[in-house]
Amino acid sequence: MSLSDTLRRAMREPQWARARLETVLCEALVRVNNAMVDLRRRAADEPSGFEPLDEITEHAWRRSDISDHLATLFLESLPVAPTLIVELGVRGGESTFALERVAAIYDAKLVSVDMGECARISPYAGWEFVQNDDIAFAGQFADWCSERGGSPAIDVLFIDTSHEFEHTAQEIAHWFPYLSKRARVFFHDTHIQRIFRRRDGSRGVGWDNQRGVMAAIEQYLGCSLDESRDFTTLRGEWIVRHYASCNGLTILERLPQPAPPGELETGAEVAVESASQ
Ligand SMILES: C[S@@+](CC[C@H](N)C(=O)[O-])C[C@H]1O[C@@H](n2cnc3c(N)ncnc32)[C@H](O)[C@@H]1O
Repeated sequence: MSLSDTLRRAMREPQWARARLETVLCEALVRVNNAMVDLRRRAADEPSGFEPLDEITEHAWRRSDISDHLATLFLESLPVAPTLIVELGVRGGESTFALERVAAIYDAKLVSVDMGECARISPYAGWEFVQNDDIAFAGQFADWCSERGGSPAIDVLFIDTSHEFEHTAQEIAHWFPYLSKRARVFFHDTHIQRIFRRRDGSRGVGWDNQRGVMAAIEQYLGCSLDESRDFTTLRGEWIVRHYASCNGLTILERLPQPAPPGELETGAEVAVESASQ
């Protein structure tokens, strides 16, 4: 938009002008802050020697609205040993970069869903992109899986779409029934701020989503959570881990259920037998 067009619109729509001015100011503040952070030289993480993790760490060196969380997303998905990963919200593929590396290790299927066209984001052979509204697709998911000879049991579910309360509540209602017993769920943007902070002290410009994602998680778990700080807690059948930086990442990990009594007895018998041999 040319300067004269911008000025004309600002005269016609003062509210738009205020919002635009606020964004320009935020962006300027963020640029100054980040230049100062860079003056102090960012310390790079030492390579782990595990190639997929080092690729993610190198990729996350380029700051983004999720860069703090890519290694966590990878590392926290590994213990699940997933066979099916579902990603809701792809855009430029930052989260896909981490998830496709988890999938490759376990030869798992990675299904990514976005309303927008993202069909060329991942080179991973086990990747399938579905361009659709995620709530509409949830209704077709069981048939979609059975047409491909698979089961709809999701081991890793990553949610990063509209960030609005009603929609996130619907995502929980429509996608959680597909979670496997060992599933982990990752929500990004559980701590969105107008100016958000990364772990290295750099900042980025965000928006006010009225706590939409965290409020939907609170409604599901029936509790209040303070997304402004890191925490780990237990709520019902879920271990909840939260990282406050970089717009927030919240992980729900199913608490392992005790084996049914019959199975326990068998296990005890085996233990006693082998101890007495
Ligand atoms: C924040 S971006 C995702 C970023 C991505 N996870 C990453 O790490 O680069 C949100 C994406 O969600 C998609 N989206 C929003 N609402 C959606 C819906 N109802 N169904 C499917 N995708 C949706 C948007 O098209 C957008 O690409």
